Amino acid sequence: MTTIKIIGAGSIGNHIAHAAREQGWDVLLTDADPDALRRTREEIYPGRYGEWDTAIELAGSRDTIDETADVVFIGTPPDSHLPLAREVLDQAPPRALIIEKPLCGPDLDGCAELWRNAVESGMFLGVGYNHALGRNTSAMEALIDQRSHGEVRTLSAKTREHWGGIFAAHPWLSGPAESYLGFSSRGGGACGEHSHAINIWQHFAHALGAGRVHEVNAMLDMCRDGEAYYDQLAVLALRTEQGLAGEVIQDVVTAPTEKMARIQWGDGFAEWHVNYDNGADAVISGGGDEGRQTQLFEKTRADDFKVEIEHLAQILEGAITDSPISLERGLDTMMVIAAAFRSSQEKRTVAIDWNAGYRPEALQ
Ligand SMILES: NC(=O)c1ccc[n+]([C@@H]2O[C@H](COP(=O)([O-])OP(=O)(O)OC[C@H]3O[C@@H](n4cnc5c(N)ncnc54)[C@H](O)[C@@H]3O)[C@@H](O)[C@H]2O)c1
Repeated sequence: MTTIKIIGAGSIGNHIAHAAREQGWDVLLTDADPDALRRTREEIYPGRYGEWDTAIELAGSRDTIDETADVVFIGTPPDSHLPLAREVLDQAPPRALIIEKPLCGPDLDGCAELWRNAVESGMFLGVGYNHALGRNTSAMEALIDQRSHGEVRTLSAKTREHWGGIFAAHPWLSGPAESYLGFSSRGGGACGEHSHAINIWQHFAHALGAGRVHEVNAMLDMCRDGEAYYDQLAVLALRTEQGLAGEVIQDVVTAPTEKMARIQWGDGFAEWHVNYDNGADAVISGGGDEGRQTQLFEKTRADDFKVEIEHLAQILEGAITDSPISLERGLDTMMVIAAAFRSSQEKRTVAIDWNAGYRPEALQ
């Protein structure tokens, strides 16, 4: 039976544990905080999925750091991701290691070392940008492959979502200052927490053959709230190596939520929506002589993670070798996040030199 060890029994840890059980996997769910393990068993898991699943083994993460599994999943706050990944790779390397997004804070500390270790190990490493695996994403890729709308003109993506929903899922937190969420330097704030939009922009740019992001010009609206200091709004202008220009907007203040991306060709468009309609993602497209077409993809929140676990099962079987949630793609997103902070601080366009590695020196 396939085994998974999850480090971090918070919101994401519970989602992944449930999805892995649905796939029939053997689950070890761990946390550094005994209260998080109690909360998982008594509150989060039964609250979301009806009842606690006694087949899930709960344990202290320190006590089990040298226990391996087919898949190890790191679902802790971003500033702990890379130190934990280093320990996992040193002490108990699995067949696949998945780290939640964003990989780290905007200082890129540990990224170059992680990449070097990943290349040397040869194992699959991934980052949890799971929107790249959705059925709406596959439908956009099919439209891109048809090449029926002429030259691509621009690309947009937005994750504009008030973070009240995140705090509702964490009733034990009193506000942003109590978690990494309130600190951009720790991977919180709009640019890090809502970086699904940057990632999906890069994903579609990749599918369009437009290359990696070469230039970033960003404005981050920084906000101080007691101890907390974070970007509540991030507006990024991007240009790729092949010259495709467009924008990404992410914020933690917009309600109702807007999670979408848009490709504009010379003769048509395609829009990608998350939670477009009650319980459904969507792709809306049109142009030329076609009318406007809407494809709906019904799903639940739990389905987002089932798709991710099914994807990992296929990776373990060797059926997928080029994954949209690979470490390389997650690091590419981290470089754009880091470039956005540099650009906003220095009030100038920042270029990314991809030959310089995943390090601050690559931001020019
Ligand atoms: N892909 C998605 O859709 C998605 C959704 C939610 C969260 N996330 C990401 O998952 C990560 C965690 O978010 P969350 O909402 O689950 O947070 P959370 O606060 O609910 O849970 C984090 C857990 O990690 C534990 N922890 C902290 N440091 C640890 C360490 N060093 N070792 C072991 N356990 C440790 C904490 O005790 C806590 O229980 C973040 O990076 C977040 O952005 C991704």
